[in-house]
Amino acid sequence: MSAMPPFKLLGLPGSLRARSVSRAVLHSLAGAMPPHVEWSVFDLHGIPLYNEDFDADPPGSVPALRAAVIACDGIVVLSPEYNHGMSGVMKNAIDWVSRPGYNSVLKDKPVAILTTSESPLGGARAQADLHKLFLSTLSRIAPGREVSIGSTARTVVDGAIADEALKKRVLALIDSLLREIVLVRGAGRAPAP
Ligand SMILES: Cc1cc2nc3c(=O)[nH]c(=O)nc-3n(C[C@H](O)[C@H](O)[C@H](O)COP(=O)(O)O)c2cc1C
Repeated sequence: MSAMPPFKLLGLPGSLRARSVSRAVLHSLAGAMPPHVEWSVFDLHGIPLYNEDFDADPPGSVPALRAAVIACDGIVVLSPEYNHGMSGVMKNAIDWVSRPGYNSVLKDKPVAILTTSESPLGGARAQADLHKLFLSTLSRIAPGREVSIGSTARTVVDGAIADEALKKRVLALIDSLLREIVLVRGAGRAPAP
């Protein structure tokens, strides 16, 4: 039996709506994850608007989000594109867990970036936005081809990616995330508890 500890991955959907493609796709990935991956999805419903006054004692489900970030080895964000950027829901949640600046629970945390939109571009313009965000938190962005889940009326069926080529690209990025986690572990950082 392998002694390799499991990879704990946390999916963060950047949309709150009931029929969210972001949330559905992240949940559907549970069945496609490689062995040794423990997959969970954190819904951002309970995250209030960011207020620096409450950094020391954050309200709502912010403490639970922070705990989930600490407990995971890597994060998969999937944000819709809103007005050529990431969703406010995603930005707001990351702002909460980005404190204290440059030394937060996101520092050195491996992150895979995914976007979605119903348009063929799939939120490609929000990708740059998310890269900037996770550079500022000193996270480790999983390297690889940008993956945007577009034309969702065709490519996402019953909440799961139905386009095989697209699904392969998503899984390749998750593979890159796992390799980043292995690098972080090799650099001496303990696996998530
Ligand atoms: C306020 C708003 C702004 C949007 N702006 C864009 C945009 O700039 N580019 C784009 O491709 N799609 C845009 N869309 C479409 C969303 O990206 C698309 O509906 C996406 O699937 C929503 O994600 P969800 O299904 O997870 O809620 C916008 C939607 C909303 C509600």
